[in-house]
Amino acid sequence: MITLEQIKQDFQKEWQGMHSLADMEKIKIAFLGKKGIIADQMKLLRDVPAADRAQRGQDLNRLKQEITDKITEQNNRFLEQEEEKLMDKQWLDISLESAYNLAGALHPVTHMRRKLEDVFLSMGFQLLKGNHVETEYYNFEALNIPKDHPARDMQDTFYLGENRLLRTHTSSIQIHGMKKLGAPLRVIGSGKVFRCERVDASHESCFHQLEGMLVDEDISLAHLKYFIDTYTKAVFGSNTKMRLRPAYFPFVEPGLELDLNCMLCGGKGCSACKQTGWIEVMGCGLVHPNVLQAGDVDSKKYSGFAFGIGVDRFAMMAYGIKDIRLLYNGGIPFIQSFA
Ligand code: PHE
Repeated sequence: MITLEQIKQDFQKEWQGMHSLADMEKIKIAFLGKKGIIADQMKLLRDVPAADRAQRGQDLNRLKQEITDKITEQNNRFLEQEEEKLMDKQWLDISLESAYNLAGALHPVTHMRRKLEDVFLSMGFQLLKGNHVETEYYNFEALNIPKDHPARDMQDTFYLGENRLLRTHTSSIQIHGMKKLGAPLRVIGSGKVFRCERVDASHESCFHQLEGMLVDEDISLAHLKYFIDTYTKAVFGSNTKMRLRPAYFPFVEPGLELDLNCMLCGGKGCSACKQTGWIEVMGCGLVHPNVLQAGDVDSKKYSGFAFGIGVDRFAMMAYGIKDIRLLYNGGIPFIQSFA
């Protein structure tokens, strides 16, 4: 027979040396098991004098309950610790930034196109939609470029059969605009154009143009120059250096080309401006009478100007992009730098 005090002390000693669930299981078996200390002492009750038996039985039961409670409580603590360990192992830091922040951003060409469209809309121009797939007639013939005209060689493209092709410029919008709206008119239209090009820092086989046309009575180069002045300053500010050069386009007479002083090198010469310090950004001129007629406009009464802006090159100048290919290689970090 062992005294309750002794059992408590033994338990206390074992409990202090207990560090794991396995240790605790051993203690549980030793004290509460079928052949454990408490059960042993219960069996020995019959040897206890009858007067003390009930008391000892109660005391043993109370001690059994205390030990059971202690073990249950500690068991829960162990389970919690296990769970925490598991959570630590599986912990995922969802606050970490991913390699790319994939929020979208407008493409620099879209930025520039919208900027230009806003300027022209504010000057009373109407925005027309054109088609990527055009007929040879709208892309060439109606623009005073007959079938075997050498100017077609400069704008070779994909021919899709049945006289259809991928438009080489947005100038076809001129004819659609005149036919639809008649004279006088002010229209713009923008979008992708396609050419057989030798690709380099300033040429791509797919790029963007913004076409503009104004037809009214007595329109001269002075008007054209006024609009060029106004919109280039709206985009680049009043210190922009530019020059107009005579150029040949079959659909205008006279024809001109607008060069901007290359803003990528400050006019010193770089790969984008082919070391000339100037970059060609727009063709323009007074609309050829044949073109007015193709648009069902009376060429004796009306005259007009037209221009085709290279939107990509405008974007390159405005945003310091040194190579046009960057605009089309799908690089996400590049696009995001414009967010
Ligand atoms: N369509 C010409 C080109 O793509 C540009 C242009 C437009 C020239 C309108 C004159 C008038 O090169």
